[in-house]
Amino acid sequence: MNRIINGEVGEFYQWTDEEGNVMNVSDGGMIYVDGRYYWYGQKLRALPYAGEGRGGQTTVEGVVMYSSVDLYHWRYERVVLACSEDPDSLCFGPMRFERPKIVFNRKTGQYVLWCHYVKYPGDHGEQPGTAEAAVAVCDKVNGEYRLLKVCRPVDDRGLVRDSTVFQDIDGTAYFLYDRQVGQDRCLYIVKLTDDYLGFSGEYTRIEAAYWREAPCLVLYDGYYYMITSGLSGWAPNQAVYFRTGDLMGEWENMGDPCEDDLCGTTYGAQGTYIFRVENTDLCIFMAERHNTDDFEKCSYVWLPICFGADHTLKLTYRREWQQEDYR
Ligand code: GAL
Repeated sequence: MNRIINGEVGEFYQWTDEEGNVMNVSDGGMIYVDGRYYWYGQKLRALPYAGEGRGGQTTVEGVVMYSSVDLYHWRYERVVLACSEDPDSLCFGPMRFERPKIVFNRKTGQYVLWCHYVKYPGDHGEQPGTAEAAVAVCDKVNGEYRLLKVCRPVDDRGLVRDSTVFQDIDGTAYFLYDRQVGQDRCLYIVKLTDDYLGFSGEYTRIEAAYWREAPCLVLYDGYYYMITSGLSGWAPNQAVYFRTGDLMGEWENMGDPCEDDLCGTTYGAQGTYIFRVENTDLCIFMAERHNTDDFEKCSYVWLPICFGADHTLKLTYRREWQQEDYR
């Protein structure tokens, strides 16, 4: 049956691939190439939350990818960014390739993956290596990505927390992240270089998005929208979205996009990405219910975004739905 099934709010409904295996594709994104959608994310461990590298919030395998032609049936592709068993490698697991995002660079012909990187044993922290950005490349969407470097966007003081990448229609790409210096946490948008492999030096602190994370961006009818979460670790909280006509300019706080969200928790989920279904107006908000008892059993919540004539957006919960009804 062709349905996107989110289950009940609070339920960890399990999405499965075409072989019936549970999909474990945490906090990732989507890219469309030659008639196929590629969904990728971090493969978390089947363990509860715990520190010192013992927790399921880390990976020992890396970033995995699935593909589909219709967004309903998913075929497992492979590990695209692999952990290493070599203790000297930057990819030695358990570690974290959090919130990976892939964009295609038309000028270089390369697929570029950015993520929030945390080295072995995978605990977020203040120490070098525990709050970084990382970039990897590949000449095929579903090939083996090569980690190029681990770095910090604005300066070495600012720790990198949640991040995303946004590619504008003119081909410019941006790295957005929650930058932390002491108690100061704010979302920053940093323009990438033309090859997408580094930072251009041009950036803006998004003042309106103070103390926000999990940024998800979309361009629709001349406006950029960014849905974010608050900071409560793995526990879900209320979403707030922002709007601007100029990515590097001022953003406006537009409030909670969720309708009838009785617990004020984004329906028990946290955003991971927004993508547009090819040749339609349908934009899908991808979110995740983090399962701190067993990270392999996180679940996914996909909702159609409803844009208003007054340049607003909203989300309404659906236990299950069909894309064809919203195109
Ligand atoms: C969340 C964040 C996740 C992860 C988690 C653990 O709020 O969005 O990506 O970092 O905290 O600290």
